[in-house]
Amino acid sequence: MKKPARATQPQSAPASAPRVAIAIMAAGKGTRLKSQLPKVLHEVGGKPLLAHVIAAATRVVPPEDVFAIIGHEAGRVRSAVADTKVNFILQSEQRGTGHALMVAGEALSPYDNVIVLSGDAPQITPQTIAALLNFHLDQRAAMTLLSTDLADPTGYGRVIRKSARSAEVKSIVEEKSARPAQKKIHEINAGFYVFSVAQLFSNITKLSTANPHSEYYLTDMASLLRQTGQRVVVWKTENAAEILGANTRAELALIDHHMRLRKCQQLMTTGVTIFYPATCIIDSDVEIAADTVIEPFVQILGQSRIGANCRIRSYSVIRDCEIGDGALIRPGCVMEGSRIGATAILGPYSHLRPGSDIGEGAHVGNFVETKKIKLGKGSKANHLTYLGDSEIGAGVNIGAGTITCNYDGLKKHTTVIEDGAFIGSDTTLVAPVRVGKGAYIGAASCITEDVPEDSLGLSRAQQVVKQGWAKERRTLRK
Ligand code: UD1
Ligand code: CA
Repeated sequence: MKKPARATQPQSAPASAPRVAIAIMAAGKGTRLKSQLPKVLHEVGGKPLLAHVIAAATRVVPPEDVFAIIGHEAGRVRSAVADTKVNFILQSEQRGTGHALMVAGEALSPYDNVIVLSGDAPQITPQTIAALLNFHLDQRAAMTLLSTDLADPTGYGRVIRKSARSAEVKSIVEEKSARPAQKKIHEINAGFYVFSVAQLFSNITKLSTANPHSEYYLTDMASLLRQTGQRVVVWKTENAAEILGANTRAELALIDHHMRLRKCQQLMTTGVTIFYPATCIIDSDVEIAADTVIEPFVQILGQSRIGANCRIRSYSVIRDCEIGDGALIRPGCVMEGSRIGATAILGPYSHLRPGSDIGEGAHVGNFVETKKIKLGKGSKANHLTYLGDSEIGAGVNIGAGTITCNYDGLKKHTTVIEDGAFIGSDTTLVAPVRVGKGAYIGAASCITEDVPEDSLGLSRAQQVVKQGWAKERRTLRK
């Protein structure tokens, strides 16, 4: 996928452009999710929470300037996002958000500013991160925090401004420590910050654990920095959805819902028709070209890419597939890790397992299962068939009920069917076996030997006809 230009690099960067790092706090266990899986690996929009935050971060600064602070199940978290090329910092004991930054001090020392993101808030956009950074630089602040107004601010830290009109912040008060009057404040701390690295780390050791959670709160940096005469400011976003954190299963579901609606809306603006979008599950990384129609109750997952003018009918589940222009996917198809050529027709009820490569204009019909096969241009396998480990040429007709016997109990073997061959219904092809170009296989054959080009292969019991047998039997019964 094409990456948009990085959001922060000014057009003509001065020689003294500030060096900016992004730290993502992702070490927590996520106690409120009651899960074996670490919090940041729970999925929304088809990928882990942390992967979304990293994706936003790496559109603002290069991956080598992104530091994920991990701790709980660090190995698992690291391998889940290893392909992103970001750095990892280990916070082996999780003693609070302030402590998470303490352990990152050395790694962040070469930078002027650090943007701090929460690994459990996946809807943050590169635009908002960049806007927060720009505000911080404009304001020459030591700390800038992102806020939003929430109708129900329960559970969040509240922003205490110097005065209602001022961008300057006196402190952030956590829910558990807030006085009744402070609890009435609707402006909440979103959990995203920019710090001057020098100011953060020359004051961070002053944090204490004298609070109801006995943790080092990063939020306490606001009042600490202010007390040393530093400037602490807040930048408010109208888009409250962007800051939602997934602390509970209910919040996970809500974020997933938001994200998928946003994905559908984005696809519709680029010319994709989606009927009844609330019923469609389309993962964040999926690409769909214009004039393709998605019917209700369709799932398109993973890294799938769908061309233009396709129609994906209801109840199909498509994962990591590439589908060419003008293809028709009839209802109820399940396909994974496969490539479908332009104008191909699939289904209803086709099952394409990984490695299926369906050629241009080919047809795969109902109750046909494929795995690791190449089906050539214009070939047809329309009914009740299993094709595995096969190379099938162009213009081949596979009759109903054809089975490739690809597994001998120990090893997999390949079936080759060359261009223009005709496989009669109910044929079993015992691999390894080859059917030559233009050859015919008589219906109900069990083919164990190669059939040369343009010949007929036939292997079935000779038919016996006993004249009058049935009639005689009926008279016997009387
Ligand atoms: C935090 C803020 C709160 C804010 C809210 C916004 C603090 C003290 N409070 O609360 O003001 O309104 O976010 O969502 O910061 N983490 C670590 N190491 C730790 C502890 C946490 O990496 O030792 C990570 C977590 O994995 C998580 C993030 O930091 O990704 C935030 O921690 P969390 O416990 O969710 O903070 P909140 O209670 O949501
Ligand atoms: Ca949180």
